[in-house]
Amino acid sequence: MSIIRRAVEQIAQVMPNRAEDELQRSHRYLGQPIDRLDGVEKVTGAARFSAEYPVEGLAHASIVFSTIAKGVIERIETAAAGQAPGVITVVTHLNAPPMKVPAPMSIGSTPSAGSTSVKILNTDRVTWNGQPIAVVVAETEEQAAHAASLVRVTYAAEQAVTSFEAAIAQAKTPKDVLGESPEIVHGDPDEAMRSAAHAVDLTFTTPPYNHNAIEPHAAIAVWTGDDRVTVYDTSQFTAGGASSLAQVFGLKSENVTLLAPFVGGGFGGKGTLWFYNQLCVMAARMIGRPVRIALTREGVFRLVGGRTPSLQRVAIAADAAGKFTAFIHEGVTAQSNENNFPEQFSFPPRHLYAMASYRIGQKVTTVHRIANTFMRAPGESIGTFAVESAIDALAYELKMDPIELRARNEPDADPVSGHEFSSRHMREAYAMGAERFGWRHRPPTPRAQRDGDWLIGQGVATGTYPVYRMATAARVRINADGTAVIQTSCQEMGMGTATVQTQHAAERLGLPMENIGFEYGDSSLPWAGVAGGSSQTVSVALAVHQAADELVKALLALAQQHADSPLAKASLKEVHAAKSGIYFRDHPATGETYAAILQRAGQAFVEREVKTRPGMEAMKYSMHSYAAQFCEAAVHEQTGEVRIRRWVGSFDTGRILNPKTAVSQFRGGIIMGIGMALTEETVFDDRSGRIVNASLAEYHVPVQADVPFIDVVYTDAPDPQTPLGAHGIGEIGITGVAAAIANAVYHATGKRVTDLPITLDKLL
Ligand code: MOS
Repeated sequence: MSIIRRAVEQIAQVMPNRAEDELQRSHRYLGQPIDRLDGVEKVTGAARFSAEYPVEGLAHASIVFSTIAKGVIERIETAAAGQAPGVITVVTHLNAPPMKVPAPMSIGSTPSAGSTSVKILNTDRVTWNGQPIAVVVAETEEQAAHAASLVRVTYAAEQAVTSFEAAIAQAKTPKDVLGESPEIVHGDPDEAMRSAAHAVDLTFTTPPYNHNAIEPHAAIAVWTGDDRVTVYDTSQFTAGGASSLAQVFGLKSENVTLLAPFVGGGFGGKGTLWFYNQLCVMAARMIGRPVRIALTREGVFRLVGGRTPSLQRVAIAADAAGKFTAFIHEGVTAQSNENNFPEQFSFPPRHLYAMASYRIGQKVTTVHRIANTFMRAPGESIGTFAVESAIDALAYELKMDPIELRARNEPDADPVSGHEFSSRHMREAYAMGAERFGWRHRPPTPRAQRDGDWLIGQGVATGTYPVYRMATAARVRINADGTAVIQTSCQEMGMGTATVQTQHAAERLGLPMENIGFEYGDSSLPWAGVAGGSSQTVSVALAVHQAADELVKALLALAQQHADSPLAKASLKEVHAAKSGIYFRDHPATGETYAAILQRAGQAFVEREVKTRPGMEAMKYSMHSYAAQFCEAAVHEQTGEVRIRRWVGSFDTGRILNPKTAVSQFRGGIIMGIGMALTEETVFDDRSGRIVNASLAEYHVPVQADVPFIDVVYTDAPDPQTPLGAHGIGEIGITGVAAAIANAVYHATGKRVTDLPITLDKLL
């Protein structure tokens, strides 16, 4: 038995059997469509984003971006900028203080994903078009921006490879892909392809995409003396951001406080430091005043990484019954020379279908562009586009319904690892979605429906996203007045985190929700993992669960110091938290309130803090969320315009803790998928490596008029291996969407578009 396997089994023995957690079945708060606790603050504007904190004596900084992709700064003229009205200082590589490059942030098991080793402002070297090369600090934002426009730079430019297409030939196999093997092979899929009764072999391309959260990246830095700094920063990871900033400036971790109580969306773009925060802290230290940097929308494009482009081949062979005899998924993504993130597009088929033989893997090449990073279900969104489009094509080849084809290849266990699925209700998700959508009315042949000049089609695709859980700590305190406070440094980016965790804590402690305070978004609170990888809900839930259990134990012990307590002889097993106190399970009237226990003991409060470890259950089970995405599209016969007319998203994502916030998450993901499929695309000028559509006028995210009513259904089937039976649901919504749209467009027109986005020109 391997050391790892033994460790897993030992840990599994000491872990509580989560399926027996009584809250798996409780319905007082959990499972209820409770309004967001921060809803009123959000809609009235009382919730502040990072750039909005009123700080005394605030100065404003503006960043100068490089205009070449690779080379050396020969001359940088700052005199005119320095003399412009209101300017306090101009910082370049010639006068910037030394700063350390932070250790790659560890997110999941790919430590350097999404962060780069570029020595910003401590080098004359330029490694992407848009790199910060100067920071101007002035009394007002306008003065800073004006002065920044006066900085003149002369470069010694070097030959750069900025085009993905040009770099593909140099692609190499990475050491690993998020800790997984970069290529897995079983049997001889090439031979199976040659001898197949039915086969498809398609090549797909997806473009680079950029982050466009509603809140552009911004920070305010306030130093206290020279060894302590508070930073308001829009962040998906307050604890990680504070620790990285501490490394950059050589400070003790506890002397950096990163505050992000409200975040206007992250989607992967706020998981690691993206220079503006570091430059803000630097500038504030240099001038001895608080400084704010609020990136413009263009600034976000220049300074924050986005999604890699990809080239993917999917080849599938099937026998006459539709069973997959070969499955090949391979291709290339890009990264920069300074980061390490081969986006994991090859993950979906490792877990989705039974396959008699397979080769699944990926290569990576490098370009002189900004580092790519996490974005909206990295891997699974672009991977499912290719895989689920190819399966649709195979269904036509077989003259078989595409849902039936998928059902015939439904695996009994994980097709690669052989592990049991912790929870998988794919057939139910398809059945529910098909019923709701009216799939049975769909004609089997393409180009069979029209509405005036519009060709109508229906498409379906599978979505999938893994279940991750991160190491997370939480502190729970119960006060003598019977109220409770939960503290953890986690983030609320609009998902409903604060609401759902308060529902959980209230139920766990047997308190009314209004008696629970939930404090978060502050790096000085107990460490919470990143709000990424759709992991936060279960990560925080387990920490709150364990801390609450410890607290109840402590309160019982406190009660038992007094012989006249009704709990004096109770064993822990006989009691539980209920009715604002501890009561016998079998005699619900016998027990004491927390307030009574604490007041008798003369204590103001009791608190407990626990740290959880990452999920070892993931080594025993294949753990994923699933979706069946149903789309009806209309394609204008003369103009090629695509409109989405109807949508049903059917989800299998464990137990739903709050239907209101959950459905909102699913819808948000589907809308992102509509953008990915139809309108969004980052356009690079391959001569200079510069993004040419760095604005929302030219980078088109879906607007209301692009989005129909999105109907959402879900299995609500608890996963016995996860805290509360839940799954994170931030990212599953986008997966499968682009394929469902491409499949609906094919059904409408008979044209298979394999190159995202599906713009008009590709349909004429
Ligand atoms: Mo998500 S791309 O892990 O924020």
